[in-house]
Amino acid sequence: MKDILQELETRRHAARMGGGEKRIASQHDKGKLTARERIDLLVDEGSFEEYDMFVAHRCTDFGMEKNRPYGDGVVTGWGTINGRLVYVFSQDFTVLGGSVSATHAQKICKIMDMAMQNGAPVIGINDSGGARIQEGVDSLAGYGDVFQRNIMASGVVPQISVIMGPCAGGAVYSPAMTDFIFMVKDSSYMFVTGPDVVKTVTNEVVTAEELGGASTHTRKSSVADAAFENDVEALAEVRRLVDFLPANNREKPPVRPFFDDVDRVEQSLDTLVPENPNTPYDMKELILKIADEGDFYEIQEDFAKNIITGFIRLEGQTVGVVANQPMVLAGVLDIDSARKAARFVRFCDAFEIPILTLVDVPGFLPGTKQEYDGVIKHGAKLLFAYGEATVPKVTVITRKAYGGAYVVMASKHLRADVNYAWPTSEVAVMGAKGATEILYRSELGDAEKIAQRTKEYEDAFANPFVAAERGFIDEVIQPRSTRKRLARAFAMLRNKKQDMPWKKHDNIPL
Ligand code: HXC
Repeated sequence: MKDILQELETRRHAARMGGGEKRIASQHDKGKLTARERIDLLVDEGSFEEYDMFVAHRCTDFGMEKNRPYGDGVVTGWGTINGRLVYVFSQDFTVLGGSVSATHAQKICKIMDMAMQNGAPVIGINDSGGARIQEGVDSLAGYGDVFQRNIMASGVVPQISVIMGPCAGGAVYSPAMTDFIFMVKDSSYMFVTGPDVVKTVTNEVVTAEELGGASTHTRKSSVADAAFENDVEALAEVRRLVDFLPANNREKPPVRPFFDDVDRVEQSLDTLVPENPNTPYDMKELILKIADEGDFYEIQEDFAKNIITGFIRLEGQTVGVVANQPMVLAGVLDIDSARKAARFVRFCDAFEIPILTLVDVPGFLPGTKQEYDGVIKHGAKLLFAYGEATVPKVTVITRKAYGGAYVVMASKHLRADVNYAWPTSEVAVMGAKGATEILYRSELGDAEKIAQRTKEYEDAFANPFVAAERGFIDEVIQPRSTRKRLARAFAMLRNKKQDMPWKKHDNIPL
């Protein structure tokens, strides 16, 4: 009996050693942790239960029958993050370069199926040379099976991808279909075709880092949602994100204990909006001042900074925040900001996360670049996303809400539930200067007259009261009491139910 038990331990030890000491050292030399070390940091201590530790591939081509390591290049299983169940797969670069064989893919599919059945997030740690070259189409079939599961799980359980090494070719499309992608600076990259192919086809010379590193994907392409300095920080941030999210689309997000007075009055907010309507101010200050304990988890911080997206808590409950940022491009809406916010709104709606919208928007960005690149369709994404969202929606206009952008930003007309305005709000078709220049074109030469007309327009429209008279604004509130008013509004909406007409799915402009 003792021998049998010993045999198990020996095999377990062999599996845990992955590709062996040399390859583990090489992984460490690159500043990367191993697949198992990553899981240890991701889940609560001692909570990880492994699946399929002894799975080995079945390939017999290219001498592979002599090289059948346990685990087949991926560690899978389940554990908890602050006590809540998550499923994890972590590709092991030390074993055959973490390449994906048929059995490797089957292991991933098994935990994805379990996650769907039991309603818990899937976190995938990617560090792989891609399709196992020796397996040919069997490997591609495995990817296909994973992709199909990504699609089925979308909107059912949160899916988070952490890119911690290579992720190239068609392999990128599994993370691409998940809800959030995190990358590690300097040690991870994602691209459909690598630098060599790019050089051959287009003659462009580019490094892997430039083509698909963390900076590229968080600043230029928006493929990734955040980039971190190293594996440890990235995994700690995944834990923090998971704390904001529900386990699945039928559960509410977790309620955390909070130690921040809901009635907290923030006098400084009364002077947040500068007197000059063209002077910018930092919308993040408002977000931090209304959030429980000033805790804000920003998504896509480095992309389309003219709009801010992320999670806060109010009375311990998760709220998704979308906010125009007057500090960048005056908070204007454009293609990138509309796409960024639309995706965020749809994530929140899919997972029952109420949405808070903070509005200070002068309109859409003009220009041939925007029009040629399809701002009409991309802007419509955000409009569509807000209009279809049935989660509680509360909006605060702090200053400008002009033109089409007023309607888009969770206005009353898109089924928002509570629409507040600060006394500094201006709800109008456009700003006073632009309006007078159009209405009184013939008087443009007369500066005094134009100043007088501008003043008339400002008096009439540069306030929230016209919209409030019509019921498009439910209440004009004191900036200092915004946190209290929001907490009450979201509490009032906690049991909101809103139905949609039957449809197979919508046809959102893509
Ligand atoms: C089998 C692979 C492999 C792969 C790496 N290895 N990639 N084995 N299939 N795809 C093995 C290597 O042979 C090596 O084995 C070990 O993993 C580590 O690889 P190195 O090359 O030594 O590591 P490094 O120098 O860090 O380079 C990493 C790499 C490189 C850039 C990822 O390995 C590489 O270019 N691999 C091939 C990438 C590729 O073309 N994949 C197919 C892409 S197409 P030993 O025994 O020497 O340690 C694809 C399509 C997916 O993925 C389609 C989905 C629909």
